[in-house]
Amino acid sequence: MTWKDGFFITFEGIDGSGKSTQARLLAEVLDKQGLATVLTREPGGSPGAEEIRALLVEGDPARWSPETEILLFTAARRDHLEKTILPSLAAGKTVISDRFADSTRVYQGVARADLRPMVDQLHSLMIGREPDLTFIIDMDPEHALRRGLARNSGEDRFEEFGLAFQQNLRAGFRALATEQKDRCVLIDGDRPIELVAADIAHRASRVHK
Ligand code: ADP
Ligand code: TYD
Repeated sequence: MTWKDGFFITFEGIDGSGKSTQARLLAEVLDKQGLATVLTREPGGSPGAEEIRALLVEGDPARWSPETEILLFTAARRDHLEKTILPSLAAGKTVISDRFADSTRVYQGVARADLRPMVDQLHSLMIGREPDLTFIIDMDPEHALRRGLARNSGEDRFEEFGLAFQQNLRAGFRALATEQKDRCVLIDGDRPIELVAADIAHRASRVHK
């Protein structure tokens, strides 16, 4: 496959690890190279999914059970896939998503609860699409949590689960990088923004045929 057929890249990692920053910088690099690039995010990325996002990221941490979260994230993802991701790929665009199905595998499948089989079943029923390339940004959760909470975004429901939760997430993402090593690249996020960006651009260019 060449990138002209539409290439699907995702960014994953714990809260505050720099995914949004790096997704935006990679989109700028690819745009400059003349690739039509769509930058999107989860939960969200389409009007319907953005409405579901507000239900998920705001409010009391105990608002939803892990099972209900899986259903809400999957509903949002299905809309995002139908309305944004698949039409863009079909038009030959490069899609960069800030989070996708790996977040559900790790947040709901490992850290919130031990529900990975349920996550996998729902994924194959309703989504059935993997990214071509996934950057997992790895870093010390204590450091990342300080960055994330400093933003004061009002979308801190998951940050409020605390440090031990973020440590479980980190372990979950590292295990996933090993499990799905054909498409996942682990990136050290505890470096200055420009160094992380250069590393990612270099690795992305190696896949660019
Ligand atoms: P995420 O999308 O993973 O939650 P963001 O990209 O929103 O992370 O970054 C969280 C905060 O940390 C932002 O204020 C951002 O400017 C800052 N930040 C991102 N990457 C770095 C870095 N490598 N070093 C220092 N600060 C960073
Ligand atoms: P996001 O806005 O990317 O948060 P952050 O910028 O802090 O990394 O995502 C919102 C929260 O939703 C985040 O804490 C991770 C969580 N999440 C899940 O638990 N499961 C999922 O499937 C997705 C996509 C996100």
